[in-house]
Amino acid sequence: MASVKRIGVVGGGAMGSGIAQVVAMHGIDVWLYDLNPQALSSASNSVSASINRLVSKAQLSHAEGADALKRMRFTSNLDEFREADFIIEAIVESEDIKKKLFVELDKLAKSSAILASNTSSISITRLATSTSRPHQVIGMHFMNPPPVMKLIEIVRGADTSDETFAATKALSERLSKTVITSQDYSGFIVNRILLPMINEAFFALYTGVATKEDIDTGMKLGTNHPMGPLELADFIGLDVCLSILKVLHAGLGDNRYAACPLLVQYVDAGRLGRKRGIGVYDYRKEPKSMKS
Ligand code: 3HC
Repeated sequence: MASVKRIGVVGGGAMGSGIAQVVAMHGIDVWLYDLNPQALSSASNSVSASINRLVSKAQLSHAEGADALKRMRFTSNLDEFREADFIIEAIVESEDIKKKLFVELDKLAKSSAILASNTSSISITRLATSTSRPHQVIGMHFMNPPPVMKLIEIVRGADTSDETFAATKALSERLSKTVITSQDYSGFIVNRILLPMINEAFFALYTGVATKEDIDTGMKLGTNHPMGPLELADFIGLDVCLSILKVLHAGLGDNRYAACPLLVQYVDAGRLGRKRGIGVYDYRKEPKSMKS
């Protein structure tokens, strides 16, 4: 495939906006699409804040920051993606909703375009079946926050071609990311290992082994993780953690992936983590401290 010149990113949430920002910061024109104008406006604000942060830390010059912003177009018109060489989907983790989007993208994207999904655990093989180009469908899993995290996990569906894989790897490396490759099994590599750890931290809290602070401090200082597992769960979103565990449980058929009842209860209560101001920790009153 010829070098990628224009990329379309679908979904103006934290992942979609972060991915679009990374693309723009590497000199590639990008559209960020979301149906909801409110989501586009908060995406635009968070990209500007992230770029300002990088400029203030001298990790990006003023000119580079301005150039990245110029390369980004925020749109509610998916038709603009007709010109895209590569499309990355980063919408809600629902197989049905993603499949509907892939049907639409398949109809409008040019025949050479690759359709990638940033899904954290949904089968790429199944998403690909909703298109007429399964060999051009692939998983491109960025980590949160995309501008900071150095990894992209590439997931090969059953029909993903070698050309699609090579083009996705080349693009990932152009974005200065390190690539790992996973076959298409539930949770891929990172979430298959990460989510059982997070779930176990919930069980430790649920069964009274320790306080949330001690569980997190134990893993931060004891194993040099930047965040403890409960703090990380709040950062990822407890609803997202639960949905990945459900995929692992259903796909791998093993009870060790069954979600901890405490995690389920928090999600039922709307305690979804940082994005809601409350999850395992309460961020509403004193955002810097970790209150219960
Ligand atoms: N944009 C730009 N820069 C950012 C940023 C953003 N959105 N967020 C953080 N940064 C930069 C900061 O400027 C800072 O840069 P510096 O080191 O040069 O000073 C650096 O990142 C660290 O940021 P902070 O000092 O504000 O805060 P922390 O030191 O607490 O770091 C963190 C924040 C980078 C999120 C760090 O806590 C971390 O790495 N946490 C773990 C994140 C992780 O594990 N992510 C993967 C989750 S799993 C996943 O995504 C898969 C999915 O499918 C569930």
